[in-house]
Amino acid sequence: MWNKHKIFEKHSWLLSIAILVVVAIGGIVEIAPLFYLKSTIEKVEGMRPYTPLELAGREIYIREGCYVCHSQMVRPLRDEVERYGHYSLAAESMYDHPFQWGSKRTGPDLARLGGKYSDEWHVQHMTDPRSVVPESVMPPYAFLDRPLRLEPIKAYMTANTLVGVPYSQEMRDNYKADIIAQANPDEGDVSAFLSRYPGANARVFDGNAREITEMDAIIAYMQMLGTLVNFEVYEGEAEEHLR
Ligand code: HEC
Repeated sequence: MWNKHKIFEKHSWLLSIAILVVVAIGGIVEIAPLFYLKSTIEKVEGMRPYTPLELAGREIYIREGCYVCHSQMVRPLRDEVERYGHYSLAAESMYDHPFQWGSKRTGPDLARLGGKYSDEWHVQHMTDPRSVVPESVMPPYAFLDRPLRLEPIKAYMTANTLVGVPYSQEMRDNYKADIIAQANPDEGDVSAFLSRYPGANARVFDGNAREITEMDAIIAYMQMLGTLVNFEVYEGEAEEHLR
């Protein structure tokens, strides 16, 4: 057997090919199952596609580069779980294209932000962060009080559908009605909206009912973050993991 090994030692190109074959086997064994195993992403109760308004907020989040300073991934470490709440599950970013885990925390993690502050707090904080957190280095985003452009949101939904987010034809067709119902419930059909997006928040997020603004979208997005999964069901498991 060792005699035959000579052939590899004498021909570096053959050795390179053999290395490639061996590495590829390792790669296939590790990576291929992720594509067909159902359990790669555990199914969890409560996950739903983002509402058109939340999706618009997500686009603003990406456009403004919030991910440069904020992560959206609570790691399963005791200090993080005590500070932010239940660690993030894979399923929680299943409708994120691209995901917003981030790699920098100049500011705190935002994965469990929903419901932590009032809408008024967010308006104040986005308009002038230092008026609520004096030592903050976050830039102000007061200009988000401009009107939200609705037309591109249909394209965002179509693009998300193409990569596997289960938006139905009905959801895409009703995107405008759903934005109005969510950001200004007095003007829209809230029950139709909630039948498409169960459990979503519907209210005037920025305190201005006269128009739907980018501020409405980003606050609707932030108030939803980390709230879709009911963690009371999973609480015992988390403690088990950290013990
Ligand atoms: C230059 C870095 C930076 C950028 C960019 C940035 N932030 Fe922040 N953010 C911070 C810092 C630092 C804090 C902590 C101090 C504070 O609360 O203002 C913070 C805090 C926050 C908080 C409060 C979180 C909590 O749990 O208390 C929210 C919400 C927030 N940012 C949202 C955003 C959004 C939305 C964007 C994009 C539109 C954004 N940030 C962009 C640095 C940044």
